[in-house]
Amino acid sequence: MAAPCCHGCWLLPLLMLLAAAGALGAEGASLVLVQLDVESLLPSTAAASCPTPQEQRPGAATATRMPIVHQHGPCSPLADKHGKKAPSHTEILVADQRRVEYIHRRVSDTTGRVRRQKQSAPVELPPGTPSSSTPASSLSSSATSTNLPASSGRALNTGNYVVPIRLGTPAARFTVVFDTGSDTTWVQCQPCVAYCYRQKEPLFNPTKSTTYANISCTSSYCSDLDSSGCSGGHCLYAVQYGDGSYTVGFYAQDTLTLGYDTVKDFRFGCGEKNRGLFGKSAGLMGLGRGSTSLPVQAYDKYSGVFAYCIPATSAGTGFLDFGPGAPAAVNARLTPMLVDNGPTFYYVGMTGIKVGGHLLSIPGTVFSDAGALVDSGTVITRLPPSAYEPLRSAFAKGMEGLGYKTAPAFSILDTCYDLTGHQGGSIELPAVSLVFQGGACLDVDASGILYVADVSQACLAFAANDDDTDVTIVGNTQQKTYSVLYDLGKKVVGFAPGAC
Ligand SMILES: *[C@@H]1O[C@H](CO)[C@@H](O)[C@H](O)[C@H]1NC(C)=O
Repeated sequence: MAAPCCHGCWLLPLLMLLAAAGALGAEGASLVLVQLDVESLLPSTAAASCPTPQEQRPGAATATRMPIVHQHGPCSPLADKHGKKAPSHTEILVADQRRVEYIHRRVSDTTGRVRRQKQSAPVELPPGTPSSSTPASSLSSSATSTNLPASSGRALNTGNYVVPIRLGTPAARFTVVFDTGSDTTWVQCQPCVAYCYRQKEPLFNPTKSTTYANISCTSSYCSDLDSSGCSGGHCLYAVQYGDGSYTVGFYAQDTLTLGYDTVKDFRFGCGEKNRGLFGKSAGLMGLGRGSTSLPVQAYDKYSGVFAYCIPATSAGTGFLDFGPGAPAAVNARLTPMLVDNGPTFYYVGMTGIKVGGHLLSIPGTVFSDAGALVDSGTVITRLPPSAYEPLRSAFAKGMEGLGYKTAPAFSILDTCYDLTGHQGGSIELPAVSLVFQGGACLDVDASGILYVADVSQACLAFAANDDDTDVTIVGNTQQKTYSVLYDLGKKVVGFAPGAC
């Protein structure tokens, strides 16, 4: 069933169905429920049958589509067949917390919000790292040629999704992480002067591409970078991530192939010193709102429109579409993109949360004071404590009414259930919906309500921020199966259900 926008709007017909099925809450209070196939969220023991996803034109000449898969899922081209294990749930959630802390720092730095400062130690970069030519306003005063503040870095990419691209002429194929939380695209390049992490595919070799060119230090493209330098007249870039991971190298241009489309003279980082938690991906695709990002560079071709769908399970395949012909660009429920809230991120106005079809009583100022952004790379949605607490308590009450056994907290998740005994079957959960300005809403798919660390520990997949002033982040677990649309031209973000 294609989920209607906000279960509550459909309360009456659903109520009648539920009443017929005897599925009313404990106190007779009506509760909109969603069905979850428990087995679908457990690691499959059978060998996954991974379809060979094809790049395609999604029914329109103005769009191109690429398949996306979970970086560590069984269908990932990066999956390690030689025994190296994917990160554990604990590791994923710890990395997720670091990403969130980084986003909070960056948002508070750029909006000047008055908030409790978190300690962020500057991270040492190796000798030879480009010096910063970034305007002083965006770097802290502690920035020196070899010492960039952690707050200038971008976020981590551990528990995330990858997409195939091709680069150069002839085109070489790479699998990269895609990230709406950063702007600059980069791949690891030959020669790796100091260190490259191990990647699955061969490194990009600029000397083998007839269309590769270095960008000059005097080019305005070089000054577009947040952090740049100069070597022999050639522009250097550096991106540093919150945990000390980084990529450094030449800022270059070459032909980028996305599905059947090519973007000529696409500017990206040719990384010669790279270290960090990028799995075995070849690099990263930056989908933020900054001038170096792919949707901004390819604005003429795609009008600043892209959409992706994150599959329900880590064994599933979703898609990343570019262009106004993408199906999601036509079907989505829209909410304004709040472009004045700060750079890079996709800010939206969140206005409420529904549990079981009932709007929780949370003052609107709780959401408007914190602000909210939609992120492809954060796993678990983060809410202001004053919004999380009513959500947690309404959900727990609903689950109690349905007779579920509680389980201990897991990492950052504090509302957990023991689903032992429900394997092989399907269960019912209170519906959860996020409501946005303009009436757009995200009726979280059943696959995005619980984070199933283990069948005996399935937890509400939301967490509270430390402080009500920290920005709300709509994470990718809650975006599952939706086509999430970003339209830089029309300045809207949209959600279309049942897309993958
Ligand atoms: C790009 O710059 C590097 C470093 O100076 C140089 O080795 C390489 O030949 C340059 N490539 C091109 C195509 O100019």
